Amino acid sequence: MSEALPKVWVINGPNLNLLGRREPHIYGHQTLADIEKTLEDQGTALGLQVECFQSNHEGGLIDILHSAPGKAVRFIVINAGAYTHTSIALADALAGIALPYIEVHLSNVHAREPFRHHSYLSAKAQAVLCGFGSAGYGYALDFVRKSI
Ligand code: DQA
Repeated sequence: MSEALPKVWVINGPNLNLLGRREPHIYGHQTLADIEKTLEDQGTALGLQVECFQSNHEGGLIDILHSAPGKAVRFIVINAGAYTHTSIALADALAGIALPYIEVHLSNVHAREPFRHHSYLSAKAQAVLCGFGSAGYGYALDFVRKSI
């Protein structure tokens, strides 16, 4: 029997379902479905099983995170959207499940409004990528492949 591929979850938070029509000058023209398909294909090429999730709800994101250890997830790539800057609960959930994670933002949050400069997730992240557009998710998967 062939061994299961290492499983990586890509989790997107609020308003990222609007990608493609949401402030395209900041977030680009690709839809979330386009990005997820690219990441799943990249995962196949890298020998990773990439599964993608999106929720507009803080509790929904927390429930997804809580289910990860039971699903044999090895690594999480997360763009928590605005919850990045507000949610101690999401940071606690990530700490609670104790899986390694990479924080991704399409835009360079440090070049934007001051309220985007702080992240509750960064302190315990393995790495943080911002400002690379959708390519940032792909760079995260490349890193995951090398590190597991
Ligand atoms: C974002 C940056 C956040 O500040 C913002 O609230 C988002 C998207 C990004 O990908 O650049 O929703 O996480």
